[in-house]
Amino acid sequence: MSALLLSGRSASAKILADLKPKIAKLNPKLVVVQVGDDPGSSSYIKQKIKSCTEVGMRSQHRHLQAATSLSDLLKLVADLNADPDVTGFIVQLPLPEHLQSHVPDIIRAIDPKKDVDGFGAYNLGKVFLSKDFEHLPPATPAGIIMLLEHYKIPVASKHAVIVGRSNIVGKPLAIMLLNRDATVTVCHSKTKDLAAMSRHADILIAAIGKPKFITKDMVKPGAVVIDVGTSRVDGKLTGDVDFVAIQEIASAITPVPGGIGPMTVASLIKNCVQAKERQIEK
Ligand code: GUN
Repeated sequence: MSALLLSGRSASAKILADLKPKIAKLNPKLVVVQVGDDPGSSSYIKQKIKSCTEVGMRSQHRHLQAATSLSDLLKLVADLNADPDVTGFIVQLPLPEHLQSHVPDIIRAIDPKKDVDGFGAYNLGKVFLSKDFEHLPPATPAGIIMLLEHYKIPVASKHAVIVGRSNIVGKPLAIMLLNRDATVTVCHSKTKDLAAMSRHADILIAAIGKPKFITKDMVKPGAVVIDVGTSRVDGKLTGDVDFVAIQEIASAITPVPGGIGPMTVASLIKNCVQAKERQIEK
C-alpha cells in the first residue's frame, strides 16, 4: 500500500484562495516581530510574508537586533496593541536566550484581540470551551485540523495519539481534537513504552522536533500520520517521521516540507481575517 500524500501546499492554496475576497474587502494587516537572527525563524517569517503578499494581505516584518532588552520589546508590543492600523501581530519564537524565560510575560502583554498566534491565555481558554469558541486558535493545531478537513479524514471516535506536549502544538491540538469527538492520548518524553501507545493510533501526530523519531514499527498499518517536525539535518528540512518507510503502511501521510508548514501560515492569515472581522463588529 502506498499512502495518500496530504499536501499542505495544495490545501493551503485552496484555503488562501477562499480567503482572498474577504482580505480584499477587510484590508487586514499582520506584523511579524523577530528578535535576533535564528535561521529557522528567518525562513518561517519569509514564508509568512510571502504568503501574505500572494494573498494580497498587508504585512510588515519588524526585525530587532538580538540584544534588544525586555523593556524595548514590551514597548513595541504596547505600540502594536495601540496602533489601530495593525490587525494582529506575532512575536516569532524562539527568542534570544536573555528573553526566552520572559516568553509568558511577552505573550501576556499582547492584546488578545490581536493575538493571531492564539498563544495567550484568553484565546487558549476559549479553545478549551468548545469548537464554537475557537476564534483565534493556535495556528499549527488549527492548520492540522484544516488539513484533515480538506482531505475529509474523519476525526470523531478515532483514537488520536499526539507525540509532544508543547503549549503551541501538542496541548492545544489535544483539546481541538477532543472538541471534534476524538479519543486523545498525549505522549511525551516521560511516557513509558511510547511505541505501544503510538501503535494504537488511528491518527498519529508527531510534534517533538526529533528527526525521524517515529519509525515504521511504531505505526499501525492504515494509520493517518501527521508530521509537525521541522529539524535541519545536513541543511535539509527533516520531519519527526521516517517518511520513506512509513508511507508504505500508512493510509495517509504529510510530507516535510510541504505538509503542516504551509497550513500553519494559512491559519495565521485566517486568524488575521477573523481578528479583523471581530474588531469591526465591536
Ligand atoms: N515558532 C515556531 N512556530 C511558531 C509559531 O507558530 N508562532 C510563533 N510566534 N513562533 C513560532
